[in-house]
Amino acid sequence: MVDSMGNDKITGSNLSDDTIIARSYAIEDPYGAIVLPVYRSVVYRFTGVESGGPHGRPWKYGREDNPTVAVFEKVMALLEGGEAALAFNSGMAALTTILLGLVDADTTVILWAHAYGTTLHLLKLMAGKIGYRLELVIEPDEVVEKVSSVKERKLVFVESISNPLLYMVDIVELAKACSESNCILVVDNTFASPILLKPLKLGAHLVLESVTKYIAGHNDVLGGVVVGDKRTIDDVLWDWRRSLGSVMQADAAYLAMRGLKTLKVRLERQSRSAQQIAEFLADHPKVSEVYYLGLPSHPSHSIAKRLLLCNFYGGVVSFRVKGGREAVQKLFKRLKIITPSPSLGGVESLISYPIASSHLYLPEDIRKRLGITEDLVRLSVGLEDVNDLIEDLDNALAGI
Ligand SMILES: Cc1ncc(COP(=O)(O)O)c(C=O)c1O
Repeated sequence: MVDSMGNDKITGSNLSDDTIIARSYAIEDPYGAIVLPVYRSVVYRFTGVESGGPHGRPWKYGREDNPTVAVFEKVMALLEGGEAALAFNSGMAALTTILLGLVDADTTVILWAHAYGTTLHLLKLMAGKIGYRLELVIEPDEVVEKVSSVKERKLVFVESISNPLLYMVDIVELAKACSESNCILVVDNTFASPILLKPLKLGAHLVLESVTKYIAGHNDVLGGVVVGDKRTIDDVLWDWRRSLGSVMQADAAYLAMRGLKTLKVRLERQSRSAQQIAEFLADHPKVSEVYYLGLPSHPSHSIAKRLLLCNFYGGVVSFRVKGGREAVQKLFKRLKIITPSPSLGGVESLISYPIASSHLYLPEDIRKRLGITEDLVRLSVGLEDVNDLIEDLDNALAGI
């Protein structure tokens, strides 16, 4: 772990997630600090001969590196099982930096289209600028087929648990196909977090997280992180990050580290509540379909059982309300505890309408093919008492 002086103190490779998280800064800080200090300085003493910064370069300027951010990066690299990490000022900044660093006009980018809508939108925008070929794949089974059939230089982007319908691809099989055909596999692990899945350990090359969601967990930080091998992170993406200025700020890193300390207990509790809520909704007469990985009816339930690292299934439940847009609007108005809002992963339960928020910028035909229609809502379960949440949903559904 990098301390405030830039020294590597704990490698942590044999420590469990719980210990890495709990001890995240309980290390030999020069002043004995137990909690990570926030270094707000954006400039550092630099004569040109110093060494010892986090990416093999001296501390110099805040657009390049920051000691507080460097500790967060080191902890994320340990948690995801990668050699190095870089933190960004949002998940989308992290994705932009990956694309600029790794893709050119000769690349084919294969996107499993069950993804956050703005990811799909950004990949299209960047294809227009950089000139790469973008191939959208809808069916999970076809992702591997596409990897094998495209012969050019290629990069595949998938979400480990997709937004908002929670589908999963078999990352083990996909990683194998990617390594056989020299293809970079990038996995957005935002919905799972490293607690539920560690894609790098299954063969992915890079993992991306929107820190804004489960990792920070309190709806008060925007951030992103990319973890992977040292060469890609330190030699390629670091240079793009410092040139773009997409680095995470020290205060955000402090809050992300603070959130990280309770990630596992939050996610376990949110998952247990989500399971109960999904079972309640599955029996409700006003609900036509429920998507939750812990329900045997979910198409990806068996992959989840095989790949997820814990015996719980995440904090998001999506469902279809009978009566479409009008019924959804009534539902949102009648909810008293659960708040209509577009984000997820925080301690507050939030319900969103993907067609009007996360997937607003997608063409309607793609939205339809993805199953993102007027009756679909996404619930991010928080830390409120689960009985209160179920009662809130029951009361609201009764009036639609
Ligand atoms: C799965 C997923 N990836 C990436 C992002 C983008 O992250 P950010 O909002 O931190 O830029 C989001 C945002 O909702 C998301 O849901």
